[in-house]
Amino acid sequence: MKPLKIALLGCGVVGTEVVRLLHEQAADLAARVGAPLELAGIAVRRKDKRREGIAPELLTTDATGLVTRPDVDIVVEVIGGIEPARSLLLDAMKSGKSVVTANKALLAEDGATLFGAAREHGTDIYYEASVAGAIPLLRPLRESLVGDHVHRVMGIVNGTTNYILDKMDSSGAGFSEALEEAQALGYAEADPTADVEGFDAAAKAAILAQLAFHTRVTAADVHREGIADVTSADIASARAMGCVVKLLAICDRVPSEGGRNGRGVSVRVHPVMIPRTHPLASVREAYNAVFVEAQSAGSLMFYGAGAGGAPTASAVLGDLVAVARNRVNGTRGPAESTYADLPVLPMADT
Ligand code: NDP
Ligand code: HSE
Repeated sequence: MKPLKIALLGCGVVGTEVVRLLHEQAADLAARVGAPLELAGIAVRRKDKRREGIAPELLTTDATGLVTRPDVDIVVEVIGGIEPARSLLLDAMKSGKSVVTANKALLAEDGATLFGAAREHGTDIYYEASVAGAIPLLRPLRESLVGDHVHRVMGIVNGTTNYILDKMDSSGAGFSEALEEAQALGYAEADPTADVEGFDAAAKAAILAQLAFHTRVTAADVHREGIADVTSADIASARAMGCVVKLLAICDRVPSEGGRNGRGVSVRVHPVMIPRTHPLASVREAYNAVFVEAQSAGSLMFYGAGAGGAPTASAVLGDLVAVARNRVNGTRGPAESTYADLPVLPMADT
């Protein structure tokens, strides 16, 4: 079978691991897809930077040229940010490529445009890595639970802030020291303000609420407070009360009186003091944990590595195999492009 050609946009913490997995697991992936997966090129900002394990001839600074190359089948975006990522993904879909992205900031700002483009051009857009790293969470919401009525999605969705709060609590580390460690471990965003001020968690909350409640939610709809103002004294006070501080994302359907379908949604991100006996209190370092409550399924808990190169690359590879299989079989994945047609539920006051 003819190889499927992949354009990789970005070769940083996540992109480097995607390349490693593509090489190391080439034979297994080819067997699972039904065709070999071959890197056509890798777009970066700095072509001359030394990169361990990356063939220099694959690197290019011409990302637009790469995504529109006629031989490219699939575009994987791990650049981050709004532009040029949005234009590159739109160009890719316009040229009939399937796309995989880990870019929660973009999905939460302008997911509707991306999903609309996927529908218009008959392509796939998969984005499991955008929320909760390695944890399979979006596909269960998008596919397995689509027939249920989800009331609530709640949990820890930012690894960097959980790492900082955990280190402040468990080893008495200072905020800045713990943040530097999280950055060195590859957990933080390029601008860590996105993590500490809660923007990253708010973007993820918007994506979760949109999938769970089948309505359009953007990052701007989310009430957001980060952890920048959480002091060592706050952590000590919580400890004295038998609690820990965690940054939580809380997405609720807000029911109308006596009604079942809900008249709105409430989505918020803020630090919360929780008892040490609560399961979320035992979520350490950059791990994430998310509870989903649904009418028929009841309570579900998702737990695992929420950030870092290898865990995130695992989710990217899962999506890559899914879209590659779709191309081989002439099928398409679930189409949340239909969000464009759904009613916008009112945001409740938080
Ligand atoms: P990095 O900052 O480590 O890497 C970004 C990569 O994109 C670099 O290779 C950079 O090039 C390249 N790049 C940046 N701007 C451009 C541009 N204009 N044109 C071409 N290439 C460009 O980020 P991460 O790998 O950590 O994150 C990537 C994405 O994955 C983000 O959306 C992030 O939110 C998401 N994500 C990250 C996780 C993590 O744990 N790190 C987890 C889940 C999602 P160069 O190398 O030359 O600088
Ligand atoms: N900066 C993000 C985090 C990466 O710390 O959770 C994973 O999305």
